[in-house]
Amino acid sequence: MTSPKSSNLTWHGANVTSDEREGILGQKGCVLWLTGLSASGKSTIARRLEQLLLERKVTAYVLDGDNLRMGLNKDLGFSPADRAENIRRVGAVAQLFADAGTVCITAFISPYREDRDLARSLNLPGRFIEVHVSTSLEACEARDPKGLYKKARAGQIPEFTGISAPYEVPMAPEITLDTENRDVDECAYQLVQDLRQRGFIPAA
Ligand code: ADX
Repeated sequence: MTSPKSSNLTWHGANVTSDEREGILGQKGCVLWLTGLSASGKSTIARRLEQLLLERKVTAYVLDGDNLRMGLNKDLGFSPADRAENIRRVGAVAQLFADAGTVCITAFISPYREDRDLARSLNLPGRFIEVHVSTSLEACEARDPKGLYKKARAGQIPEFTGISAPYEVPMAPEITLDTENRDVDECAYQLVQDLRQRGFIPAA
């Protein structure tokens, strides 16, 4: 990773340790990184999971690709360099949420392995859980809720992931979600269960 442009910086740590913070909150911060094609179900699963966690008094927050591209990342497009910068920023924000003790759920295509690995590297070992939402291109294209695949096939959207831009399938994700044979609730409950097993959130 590149070093900061600024010099003369001093790191200011918190007055409470991470253990103390997590003891007070009753949960451990982590990043649940959902990656997959557009229309694979990332955002829908992320939102349902967030809801299930909040109902269980677990602090959780979703960072979503379309949403962040309307604000923090409004200056970025879909070239490989812009996608890398998108994921670099989101990775940094997600790490901050995890450091704050939150279950941070991210929903970005994040098509490049290198960019996902960079996001992983910002977190403590075991705190970054890569979730491959493995819906096939055929299924995503059949769903096409926003009509984007149709436009991309017609040449109206350049560099569209899966059509005219690559998606690099995760080599060793912690979790793979099959949305073609399981519904949103089943996927979201599986993730709740996994967070329990990993000790991030209290047992039921
Ligand atoms: S990423 O590749 O940089 O991770 P991100 O998740 O932020 O992408 O944004 C993807 C969303 O942007 C898609 O769900 C879709 O709604 C929209 N989008 C617009 N143009 C493109 C494109 N060329 N490729 C993929 N998604 C696009």
